[in-house]
Amino acid sequence: MFEKVAFIGLGLIGSSLARVIHVNHLAKNVVASTRSQKTLDDAVALRLISKGFSNPVDAVKDADLVILALPVQATEKVLAQIKPYLGERTIITDVGSTKGNVVAAAERVFGTLPSGFVPGHPIAGAEHTGVHAGKVDLFAHHKVILTPLPTSSDWAVQKLIALWQAAQAEVICMDVKKHDEVLAHTSHLPHLMAFNLVEQLANREDNLDIFRYAAGGFRDFSRIAASDPRMWHDIFFGNKDAILNAVDGFETQLAKIRQLIENEDSQALMGLLGHAQAARQHFNYMLAKKPVMEKNKVTQKFTILPQQHRFEGTFTVPGDKSVSHRSIMFGALAEGTTHVTGFLEGEDALATLQAFKDMGVEIEGPHNGEVTIHGVGMHGLKAPTKELYMGNSGTSMRLLSGILAAQKFDSVMTGDASLSKRPMERIAKPLRAMNAQIQTTGEKGTPPVSITGNQPLQGIDYELPMASAQVKSGVLLAGLWAAGTTSVVEPEPTRDHTERMLRAFGYDVKTEGNKISLVGGGKLVGTNIQVPSDISSSAFFMVGAAICENSDVTLEAVGINPTRTGVIEILKQMGADIQVLNERIAGGEPIADIRIRGTRTLKGIHIPEDQVPLAIDEFPALFVAASCAEGQTVLTGAAELRVKESDRIQVMADGLQAMGIDCTPTADGIVIEGKGKAGDWSPIFKGAEIESHHDHRIAMSFSIAGLRASEAITICGTETVATSFPTFTQLANEAGLTIQTVN
Ligand code: S3P
Repeated sequence: MFEKVAFIGLGLIGSSLARVIHVNHLAKNVVASTRSQKTLDDAVALRLISKGFSNPVDAVKDADLVILALPVQATEKVLAQIKPYLGERTIITDVGSTKGNVVAAAERVFGTLPSGFVPGHPIAGAEHTGVHAGKVDLFAHHKVILTPLPTSSDWAVQKLIALWQAAQAEVICMDVKKHDEVLAHTSHLPHLMAFNLVEQLANREDNLDIFRYAAGGFRDFSRIAASDPRMWHDIFFGNKDAILNAVDGFETQLAKIRQLIENEDSQALMGLLGHAQAARQHFNYMLAKKPVMEKNKVTQKFTILPQQHRFEGTFTVPGDKSVSHRSIMFGALAEGTTHVTGFLEGEDALATLQAFKDMGVEIEGPHNGEVTIHGVGMHGLKAPTKELYMGNSGTSMRLLSGILAAQKFDSVMTGDASLSKRPMERIAKPLRAMNAQIQTTGEKGTPPVSITGNQPLQGIDYELPMASAQVKSGVLLAGLWAAGTTSVVEPEPTRDHTERMLRAFGYDVKTEGNKISLVGGGKLVGTNIQVPSDISSSAFFMVGAAICENSDVTLEAVGINPTRTGVIEILKQMGADIQVLNERIAGGEPIADIRIRGTRTLKGIHIPEDQVPLAIDEFPALFVAASCAEGQTVLTGAAELRVKESDRIQVMADGLQAMGIDCTPTADGIVIEGKGKAGDWSPIFKGAEIESHHDHRIAMSFSIAGLRASEAITICGTETVATSFPTFTQLANEAGLTIQTVN
C-alpha cells in the first residue's frame, strides 16, 4: 500500500498503527522520529520500524505517508520543520483528538494546504501510553473519523480509508467543526469531569479513606482520569470553544438536578433519572449492534413495456394493510381467539405478525389470508429475546411504540434502510408525556427505538400536531394501559381503523367531533375480523383504468371507510368515470365494488386540502393521473408526503420529470402541468429509468404510468412492492400491462 511510512511520535496510537502496518505488510519501509531515543530503540527491537531518527526531517524524506501521532500542540512546529521535505503526493495525516486547531496550525505553516493533507482521529485509546502499550487490535471495531478538507484530494482520502480499514476500523468522514463539537461532548467533557472529580476527592482531608473504600461507581467513572495529562492539557486548550460550550451545558444540567434534590421533587427526579437510564440502555444497544439497515438490498427491477392497448378485468386486490396490522395487534392483546380472513400477506403486516410471535403469542397462519391468533390478554406479552424487526413498516413501529411503552419489559425496534430514516419522535414525544421511557436515535429522532418497560403510564389529552393516524393510534393504544382517560384531538380526520376495531374487540372508544378518547384499564375480547380489500392498492388500478382508453376495471369488496376514500373523490373531481357499487358492511367496515372506465380525458384540479389525509397514500398514483389530465393540478397541504417511505413529493417529481412531465415540487405539495388533451389517448410519458427509493407506492405508480408511455420504463428497487401488494405484477399483467421483473 505504501513505499515508506514515517511516524512522528510513537506512543499508544502511533505504535498500534505501526503494528497494523507491520502485521499486514502494508509498507515496504516504516521509520519514526520521536524525542525519546529509548522509544526508537524499543520500536526497532519490536520490529515496528526499520530505523529511528531524532529529527523528523530525516524521517519524512521520500515518505509517501507521514503520520503525526504526537501531542496536538506540537503539530505546527513539526509541520514547519518537515514542510520543505514533503513530496507532492505525500499523504499527511494525524491522529489528534481535536481537528480545528490542527487545520489552523497547518494553514499557518502551508498557506494553501497540500492536497495530501487529510486530518484524522481514531476513536480508540486506553489510559496507558507508550510504545509498549500499543496493540495491533486497538482500532478493531472502533470508529476512525477522517475530516477531509476542501483541499484534500480523493486519492489521499481513499488510501487512508483503506489503511484504517486494514486496522478493522469503521471509517467515518465528517467536517472539522462537527467533529470538534461532537468530541467535546462525547470525549472531552467526560475526561474533564473525570479529572475534576478525582481532583475534588483527592483534595479532601479524608481522601485516603475515600479511595480505599471507593466502590465500582468511582472506579468506573474515574478510570479515564489516569490518562496522559500532557495530552489532555493540549486537547482542552485545542478545542477550547466547543469544550466551554459543553461545560456550560453540564453546569446548567447540574444546576437542574441539584434543584430537584434540594426541592425533593421526587416525580421530576424520577423522570430525569428514568430518561437518562433509557438513553443509556439505548446506547448499550447501539454499541452492541448496528441497526439492521440493509436487510433488503436493492435486488429487483421492473421494466414496463410500451404499447399497451388494454386495461380491463375484475380483480380482488389483497387485504387492507392498516386493518391487517391492527387485527394482529388487537387479536394478540385480546382474551380468547381471534380469527382473521382476508389478511394481507405482505411484508409489512407480516412484520407485525412476527413481532407478536417474538413476544410469545401463538399465531396460526397466514394460509390464504386466514390467521388465527390465540390472544394472551392485556398483560400476557413476553419479553422478546432480540430486537423486533419492523422492516419497511412505519405503522408497525409507531403503533407498537404505544403498546411496548406500557409493557413490563424492555424492547428495541429496528427497521430497514427506508424506515431507519423516518421520524419517530412524533410518537415518542406524546408517549413520554404519558411517562413512557422511550428513546429514538440521532438528531432526527429515527429508529432504532428503545423502550424501557415497567413505567406506570398516565392518560393525557394530546393535540396532534399533524394529521397522523399512526400517532393517534400509538397514543390511544398506550392509553389502554394508562391511568385515567387518554384523548387525542386531530387537526383533520384521519383513518379510524383503530377506533373501529377496538370497539369490535369490545373496548369503549368515544369519538366526539375531532376528539377521540378512551379510559385505560379495560380489556379486549377476541373476535372475528374480515379484512376488506385495500383501497390503497386498488388506487393503482383505478388510476390505470382512468388514463387508458376503453379500459374497464372492477375492483371487488374494496374497503370504502370514509376516512380512506379521498382517491375516489379526487378522481371524480378530475372527471373520471367511476362508480361505487354494492355498498355493504363487512366486519365493521363499509365495502363496495368499484368500477372505473377509460371513457374521458381527466382534467387538472386544485385538490381540496380536506381530502389530503383521506388520500394520503394514494398521491403517487394520483400524480400519474394528473400528468395525463388536461391542465394544471395543484396539491397543497400535503407536507406529510415528504416523510413517507420516501420523500414522495421529490421522488415523484424527479421520476415524472425524467419521463418528460413539467412539474414543480413545493414544500407541501406539487404543481403538475398535465399533458392530456380531450379525446386524445396517445402516449404522455417518454421512457426513462426511475429510482423508486425503496418505496412500494412509487414503484407501482410508475408501473401504471407505463399504460401511457411511448417507450419502456425501468423502475429500480421494486422489491418493496411486496410490503403491501405482493400480487401486484400478476394482477397488473392480467389486466393488460406488461411488467418484466428482473431480480
Ligand atoms: C397508516 C396511516 C398513515 C398511512 C400509512 C398507514 C395507518 O400514516 O400513510 O400507510 O395504518 O395508521 P400516517 O398516520 O403517518 O399519516
